[in-house]
Amino acid sequence: MSRRKFLKTAILTGCTALVTGIPLATYVILPSLKQEPGNWIDFGSVEDLEPDNFNMLSYEFMVKDGWITLPQRGFVWAKAEAKQQIKIFSSTCSHLACNVIWQKETREFVCPCHSGRFDAQGQPIAGPPSRPLTVLEHKVADGNLMVFMKV
Ligand code: FES
Repeated sequence: MSRRKFLKTAILTGCTALVTGIPLATYVILPSLKQEPGNWIDFGSVEDLEPDNFNMLSYEFMVKDGWITLPQRGFVWAKAEAKQQIKIFSSTCSHLACNVIWQKETREFVCPCHSGRFDAQGQPIAGPPSRPLTVLEHKVADGNLMVFMKV
């Protein structure tokens, strides 16, 4: 094979690889980098919330993360207050992400992992947590409580 023919073949092969390889790689790799930002979850009628108390509201939705779709399950704490105001806290402890439980008698959230405690405003009052519980974005649509759950 002459040097000229070899170079021509090499350049042609390289160009072909670039033209087909970049779109193919983009098609294969990009979906694995994509993750959904979150979902609005419908928790049903606001009227169903027990007044003056935090209600445990469970959720489950599917999350597409790259090539796989997995269920995401959990719960939030919701309290209907005066004037249609609703307070929604994530159940995730701000220390190391265990689930906090509302104690109606003491009016505190308690984390079973390291005995962290939060008041009814979600502020840490005892134990290792130094940050408050996360307040979740929410809205009322057609009388139903909708909460935005980040994934
Ligand atoms: S995870 Fe809640 S106190 Fe540590």
